[in-house]
Amino acid sequence: MAAIALLQHYIEYLTTPTVLLTILVVVGPILYTVGVEWAIASKTVKPSGFSGCRRLGLVGPSNLITQHEQPPLTDGIPRVKALFTYPIKSCRGVELSATEVEATGLKFDRLMTFAQLVSKPAKKADKDQGGAAVPSEEWQHQWRFITQREFPRLALLRTELWVPDPRGRTAKANGHGGKDLQVPSSKPRTRSRTRGSTLVGQLEKGDKAAGSGDWTAQGGCLVVRFPFEPDFNPLGLRTQEVKLVLPLVPTIERAKAKQYTTEDLSIWKDNPQALNLTCEIDKVALEKLRYFLGVSNPLALFRVDPNKPRAVTRCLPADKPGEEFKVGFADAFPVNILGLASVRKTDAELPATAEVKGKLDARRFRANIYIEGVEAFAEDEWKKIIVGTRIGRDKDGLFECDAEYHVACRTARCTLPNVHPDTGIKDKNEPYTTLGKTRKVDKGALPHPCLGVHTIPLFASGILRVGDEIEVLEKGEHVYEKMFK
Ligand SMILES: *[C@@H]1O[C@H](CO)[C@@H](O)[C@H](O)[C@H]1NC(C)=O
Repeated sequence: MAAIALLQHYIEYLTTPTVLLTILVVVGPILYTVGVEWAIASKTVKPSGFSGCRRLGLVGPSNLITQHEQPPLTDGIPRVKALFTYPIKSCRGVELSATEVEATGLKFDRLMTFAQLVSKPAKKADKDQGGAAVPSEEWQHQWRFITQREFPRLALLRTELWVPDPRGRTAKANGHGGKDLQVPSSKPRTRSRTRGSTLVGQLEKGDKAAGSGDWTAQGGCLVVRFPFEPDFNPLGLRTQEVKLVLPLVPTIERAKAKQYTTEDLSIWKDNPQALNLTCEIDKVALEKLRYFLGVSNPLALFRVDPNKPRAVTRCLPADKPGEEFKVGFADAFPVNILGLASVRKTDAELPATAEVKGKLDARRFRANIYIEGVEAFAEDEWKKIIVGTRIGRDKDGLFECDAEYHVACRTARCTLPNVHPDTGIKDKNEPYTTLGKTRKVDKGALPHPCLGVHTIPLFASGILRVGDEIEVLEKGEHVYEKMFK
């Protein structure tokens, strides 16, 4: 009897207006949120591709999947283990199984960069008669590139490269499962073949105006995705994927129609002129991105202006005086090489308490070419190497020969590798602190530690493939030349 009475009492209690209201207030929004998200998710069928384009990149597991296996293969012959191009500076890279290489580096590497508007007081005001400094009312504004060092969440921006498919099939039909070569096949054929793979050296004249969904005239498109989280985001249910689609090689017509401007952009001590592509990003998406990254200043996107290349000014090959070398938005040199053994060795030297100990990921170092087959730091001594194939053209048509690279210097490191490439979370100390103890090996680079090497291609057009062997032509000592005087 007592139990029934209790139940009756309980039911009465549950049906009082106050309790009903409470239940409604608490459960309602959750049901609503779930419903809305479900509705959105079921409506947004992700397009599988862009018509006339195919996705560039490795299909299947990364070639770095075995990077933690000990010990790395050391038969003394260095080989290309993995290839990466980073279309936007400091954002996630695209892994490739083969790639075109240009004088400025791997195709599409550091082609674009985000930048923020920074202000500093204009030149110091003259001292007034009394000798006290007059605070200047004038401010200088400058667009300065941003990196993971200050904005680690850049690591969460995923990039996809969609390039015109020379076979004319759509990406969908192709399922982007084909080879990722946007390069002449290993036996270069004659002229007709090269149309779809001309170097992105110029803003090409578009043959046709690009329709809204047709990116082929724009040299294909770069897709950027990131997970935006609104303030009110119970259980992460309202996280939405924001997608930006950007032209890779905008036509002159598009540049005019969109009124691209050319601006001075500050990269370290360089101030190259760059194309302001910010107008290609929808305003709302740009605001979401700014919030996502934690940038409080105005944010903009720049593309390398092919007519105004940045010069490489340091560590040039001594045997090529007067020759000019160019680079995109990479820090200073076109191609970065890093040995996986060097990463494993660094990992082994991390203190036992370090969170990354035992799983230091080579991707933190953002190399273009990861190599295996040699001992740790073997690459430090290289001065000139051959890797892959150079594609040249003479009066008889295309020819191929060895592709030579000048190893310019070691790579001086900052705290950027402290950012986890998958989470975008920056560790306070490692691996930078350990590198500071073990890798201050170059007196020119002090106080910075070094890991990996920077190289300059000694040709205009070439091909690199995973598995290519590296032949070391010259070895020697490196002394880093600083950019800051
Ligand atoms: C770049 O373009 C955006 C949008 O078109 C504009 O708001 C911004 O001020 C431009 N940047 C510069 C340096 O002009």
